[in-house]
Amino acid sequence: GRNGPLAKRKVVITAGGTQEPIDAVRVITNRSSGKQGYALAQAALDVGADVVLITAPTSLIPPYGAKVIKVRTAAEMLDAVLQETQDADVLIMAAAVADFRPRVAQSQKIKKEREIPSLELEATPDILVEVAERRAHLGYPRRVIGFAAESEDLLANAQSKLQRKRLDMIVANDISAQDAGFEVDTNRVTLLFADGRMETLPLMEKDKVAEAVIGHLITMLI
Ligand code: C5P
Repeated sequence: GRNGPLAKRKVVITAGGTQEPIDAVRVITNRSSGKQGYALAQAALDVGADVVLITAPTSLIPPYGAKVIKVRTAAEMLDAVLQETQDADVLIMAAAVADFRPRVAQSQKIKKEREIPSLELEATPDILVEVAERRAHLGYPRRVIGFAAESEDLLANAQSKLQRKRLDMIVANDISAQDAGFEVDTNRVTLLFADGRMETLPLMEKDKVAEAVIGHLITMLI
């Protein structure tokens, strides 16, 4: 087995941007490199956790030692998360889940020589809301951490997500800054906790942000 403060703890982490099919070749997705989620998986491994990384498509190499489950859509990610969190200590939802998907996906490639299609969209399931409902009955996963990527009213939006999704902690990510958020190696985050505490971290490498988040997780589990 592994050594460290999270030895024998099962930590499930999602990463990447889900892809919702329009047709055989086209998808709707979000800008997301997966870097913050993969950094969290590495940081959890480093303190001894049993890590399950549920990942939408990214160009990254998964950290050695994690169990990796590859998914594409929000629906597939929901299935994998519900399956893996039944006996998990922690869920960290770092994935950029698409909020909308085409109501029907065409099985063939839509031809541009025909008329330009219009897309009818529907909402995807909110994975954290589904997890919160099941957790209220079963008690698992024991701790849940979410992310909020916002370009305005960062803290107010993060606070309302913390409550609505019944999280223990939310990582509020300011995506209006050039040096933070999508597709870069650094992040500027504020951590908000269910008990009202708040901690703003300076601009840091995503792996340092991950270490800070996992550090708080350790104190929440002991
Ligand atoms: O509501 P919003 O998408 O801003 O919330 C962000 C948080 O919720 C992230 O932790 C994200 O992984 C999660 N999420 C989810 N299911 C969705 C959309 C977002 O679990 N359909």
